[in-house]
Parts: sequence; structure tokens; C-alpha cells
Amino acid sequence: MNRWISKWQPMLAALALTGCGLKGVQSTVDADGPVAEIQYQTFLVTLFVSLAIFAVVGGLFLYCLVKFRAPGGEVPPDYPLPDQGHGNPLLEIGVIFVSILLVGIVAVPTVYGVLYGGTLPPGEKPVVIKVTGYQWWWKFEYPELGVVTANECTIPVGRPVQFKVQTDDVLHSFWIPRLGGKMDLTPGQDDWLWLQADKPGNYWGQCTEFCGESHAFMRMRVIATDSASFDQWILDQRKDVTEKPPAILSKGQCAACHAIRGTYAQGVIGPDLTHIGSRTTLAAGIHENSEENIRQWLDHPNEWKPGNHMYRDGYQLLNIKLEDAEERELAKYLTSLK
Ligand code: CUA
Repeated sequence: MNRWISKWQPMLAALALTGCGLKGVQSTVDADGPVAEIQYQTFLVTLFVSLAIFAVVGGLFLYCLVKFRAPGGEVPPDYPLPDQGHGNPLLEIGVIFVSILLVGIVAVPTVYGVLYGGTLPPGEKPVVIKVTGYQWWWKFEYPELGVVTANECTIPVGRPVQFKVQTDDVLHSFWIPRLGGKMDLTPGQDDWLWLQADKPGNYWGQCTEFCGESHAFMRMRVIATDSASFDQWILDQRKDVTEKPPAILSKGQCAACHAIRGTYAQGVIGPDLTHIGSRTTLAAGIHENSEENIRQWLDHPNEWKPGNHMYRDGYQLLNIKLEDAEERELAKYLTSLK
């Protein structure tokens, strides 16, 4: 036994450290909002019912294995068949009733959870955020507050947020595991879900519907702050850029796809960059936001995010080549857009 344990120890330790850890940044069992909590409770009920069924069926199986084992481990040629019958009606009816009962135990929290997640809570009016999925990034718009941003949205703690989801191209799926979800973004269809964060934090999200070669790099962040910081964030995000952009912005054809409000850049194909410097991550949550990382992203976006449109339909198609100094100038400018 000891030898067996020492042989498998590294693997068991790795399992305990990774897959079995319950406190991940995208852990559904580390619920931080009412919707996530209901979904977690439903999971627990289902898990315990399943475990109970497993224990009873597995226990009976083991009991039969031991109890009805052939004497001496081998079946003698003249070993009699057990009594043959058509079964036990009482037992069968009992099993049917127990099955119905177990389905009922699982169904009650499930239906309650579906209704709970599909009904906006009474009381305070939710913040409305329109989410649009693109290959491979997220647009977040606050139609009632006049804010447009990308890949990261800020929400107030303790207040419901209604995410209205839609897609610009293919199927995506919106999921912030510790706040709840998920909801598919279906072409030609408007759907919504509401979520709420119970404490401040940086909640990681991920597209969970395969949507092309960079599906795995389509991440997002929901940043929950207190209501004063949220109001301030909204005010900051609404501001236009006053500084004149560098000439490289036009050589790079950036304005054809990106908007920097307050400048001539008014593109709507790629993420709005008006306040890109204020975001914590780059390229839909795949790298930390820093001047050097922006430069690297401008230099080889296809290595970070294969197939992305900036590279494929921009750099390649328009034959754009930025010099090292130009990349640095552009990265410096973008970082300054707080
Ligand atoms: Cu978008 Cu997967």
C-alpha cells in the first residue's frame, strides 16, 4: 500500500493542486452572487442525489457479489439455478416511486433556479449592459449610461446587472463562472441573463461555445466595485480623448476598424480603444495590459491570437508593416488613453 502511494504521490498531488482545487478564478463552486449561488445549490442537490443512488446500487451490487459467490470460487457442473420468477411487483412499484421522488428532488431546485435566473429581481433597477460577441472579443455597451468598452466591464457590487447578449458573427457563449451563467449568443436572436456580484473583485469569464480558431482566447473580465467607484468609472469612460493622435494611427489604418472618441478614428469593426489604457488586460483577457505588451501585440498579433481579424483582414490584406519605432510610439499613445 505504502509503495503504491509513494508511486502515485506526485500524480495525486498534481490532481489535488489543479483539477481538484475548488478556489479557481473560474470556479463555479466558489459562488459570489445570488445567481451563481442558486446554480451551485442545484449542483449540490443533484450531486448528493447521484451519490445516494451510486451508494445504494453499488452497495447492492457488492452485497450480491459477496453473498452469492459460488462456493470455492468455481461453479460446479451440477450447481442448481436459483429460483426463477417474474420479479416482485411490490419492489418494482417501489423502485418506480423512488425514481419519481428522486427526479422531483432534483426538479424542484432546477425549475426554481431557471425561474429565478429568468426573472429580473424586484427592487433596484438593474444596470443594463449590452454584450456583443465577435471573433474573438466582447463589446460591452451601457446604453443608458453612454459608455462603450471592450473585453472588460465594470459593475456595481450588490446591484443586479442585466446582460443583453447578441452576436455579430457566429455562436458564442457568455459565462462568468463565479457570478453565474451561462447564456449562448445566437445569431439573429436577442437573449439576456442577470447576474450580481456580492463583493468587489475581478471576475474572469470565458466564451464557452466553440467559435473558431481563437475561441480559447476569447476571455473577458467583470470588475465589481462599490457604487461610488462605479459612478466615477462611468464618468471617466464617457470622456472623449482630447489629445491629438500620432500620425502612425493613420498609417496603420487603425481608424478603419477602431474608434477613439474625440479623434477621427470612428471604426466599428474592432474594439473601441477610447480608454484602452484603463483596462487591466489586452486582446480579450489573454495578456496583462502594459505598454510593452501592447507593442508586442501590435508586432505579432497572429502569434497571440491565431486568425484574428486585425492580422488577417488588416495587416495581411492591406500589407501593413509597422517599424519598431512606430510600434513603440503607438503603444505609448494607446497606454496613455486612460
Ligand atoms: Cu466565442 Cu468561443
